[in-house]
Formats: sequence, structure tokens, C-alpha cells
Amino acid sequence: MGEPEGKAVSNGLPPLPFQLPYPDSPDVITSNLLKIAELTPNDRKRFLAKNLITHLHQFVRETSLTTKEWEEAIQFLTAVGQTCTPLRQEFILLSDVLGVSALVDALNNPPVQGGTESSVLGPFFTEDSPDLENGDSIASDGKGEYMYVEGRVLSTDGTPIPNATIETWETDGHGFYDTQYSNREKPECRGRLHSDKDGRFGYRAVVPVAYPIPGDGPVGDLLLGMGRHNMRPNHLHLMIEAPGYTKLVTAFYPEGDEWLESDAVFGVKKSLVVKLQEVNDEAEARKRGFPKGNSFKLLQRDIILVPEEKSREVFERNAREAAKNALATA
Ligand code: BEZ
Ligand code: FE
Repeated sequence: MGEPEGKAVSNGLPPLPFQLPYPDSPDVITSNLLKIAELTPNDRKRFLAKNLITHLHQFVRETSLTTKEWEEAIQFLTAVGQTCTPLRQEFILLSDVLGVSALVDALNNPPVQGGTESSVLGPFFTEDSPDLENGDSIASDGKGEYMYVEGRVLSTDGTPIPNATIETWETDGHGFYDTQYSNREKPECRGRLHSDKDGRFGYRAVVPVAYPIPGDGPVGDLLLGMGRHNMRPNHLHLMIEAPGYTKLVTAFYPEGDEWLESDAVFGVKKSLVVKLQEVNDEAEARKRGFPKGNSFKLLQRDIILVPEEKSREVFERNAREAAKNALATA
């Protein structure tokens, strides 16, 4: 912003088309706001604005928020904004630890009979994954303990889906994503491949490990202030797309991890917890392309995509029910 020039002007809109009482009591402040929100021309935005005002004002009233607490909240949100960079999104992290990301995901991707369930995307997906062939490795040798991932991409009726795009990413064995290394030269522990004509896919990876979400910013302070840990259980991210099917963002969580039941970002669903098989067979290890040793873990899991029209049907039915319940409790 430069120096102001000329005369200060309004945004060009006229005074309100109705008279409001002076906001000289708490309830009048809220009711005035709600009347003003009625002017929002867009139906959906008007609905969101009125709900936001109602719940935000109710929160302030019910908690008798003090001026000091209000100042601290402003300082906290300011710090969250100031921590954001093109490579770090502290607001998404805040939404994640408050369970908002998981809630939006759950409402927008309701379980559909037989379909693989979704999980949170997280901030570590990148667009620069290398294109791989089935059987290739997403990780350079030495990045972690060997794991082979294989399965089929199927429709809810069991039909194989050929040529589905599978993006997959994970941390290395130290619990860091490649983007967390300042000397990152190329993508690591991530790749993009396609299911074959029978819907099959397979790739080498590393056994996922539990890791902490970034704890050096205001969200980290918030977790400490609430007495909460910042761990995610071991997981492998996958994002699968095929024409005519709803895009699936999910993750598989190997069983046995001590953090599974208390994921800091609420991403784990029971159906996404998987068993890793232990394979101790040198010939199998060579056949799968592992350069050394005779053992690896095997993650076998089919991915079931839901046809778009089926997802839409379920989403709209749930939205209608939620609106009906909201009206009933209003
Ligand atoms: C992740 O799994 O990559 C993740 C998800 C939410 C917050 C931080 C990390
Ligand atoms: Fe992750």
C-alpha cells in the first residue's frame, strides 16, 4: 500500500435499505449482523455467513470471552498466518489438528458400500512425482526398510479399472518427507504409476514409520498447550483417479503402531488399517526387484473406486438429511 491519494471513498455501496436499532446490547449486535447477512446475494454464501455469525457470537457469549483472551486469539491467528510460506501451510495444519479437515473429508466423501474409505491429504503431496512403471521403486535404496505394495484397482461391482492414475507418497525411514530436507534435489519416496489392463498395480516402497507433524510453529504450541502429542501413526498415502470415478485420497495404516488410536490429525479409519506380511525368501526378494537381502514386508490391498453418480447420490442424500435435522433442531 502506497500513500493515500485524494479524498477517502467508500466501496460504493449505499447505506442499508432498512433501519437497525443501535447495537447497545449483546443480543442486538448479533441480530443486527444476522439482518445485514440477509443482504448477501449468493444463497449458499448467505447461508454460510448466517451460520458463522450465529455460532461465532454464541461461542463468545457462552464462554464470556475476555478481552485478554480475544487479544491472544488474534495474536495466535496472526502467528499462524505469518508462519505460512509457499511450502508450509500452517492454517491447514491448524484445521488438521482441530479435526476440521477430517470432518470436511468425512462429510464430502461418505462411505459408499464397498468403496475404499478416504483419509486426509495432508500438506506433503507434491506435483513433481516421477512417473514409474509397475514394479519400480518410489524410494532410493537405503531410504528405509523394504516394502512391496500390490493390489488391483476395482469398481464397487468388482470390475477391474485399467489405467487408473495412482499417486503415492510417504516419509523415509527417518520420518521426514523429501520436502522437509533443505537440500532436496529430486523427489524421493513418491511416485506416479498406472494400473495395468487387469487393474493391477505394484511398486517398491519403504515400510512406513510414525512421524511428528511440524511442531515448531503456533500449531505446535497449541498442541503443547492442550497437552497433546503431535504424532501421526505409520502410513502410506495414495491418491487414485480414473475417468467416471470419484477421485480417492486415502492412506493405508499398518497395524500395530502405538499412535493409531490417537492420530494428531484424525485421519485413521478402521477399514484403512492393514496387515503387513513378512516375506523371508531371497528368490521372492530378487523377483520383486529388491537389490539385497532376503526379506521384505508385503502390503496387499485392493482399492475400490466409487462411480461418480453413486457418490453424488450418497452425498446428496446425506446433505438432505443434515438439512432436515438442522431444521428440526432450529
Ligand atoms: C500427512 O500425513 O502427511 C499429514 C497430514 C496432516 C498434517 C500433517 C501431515
Ligand atoms: Fe503423511
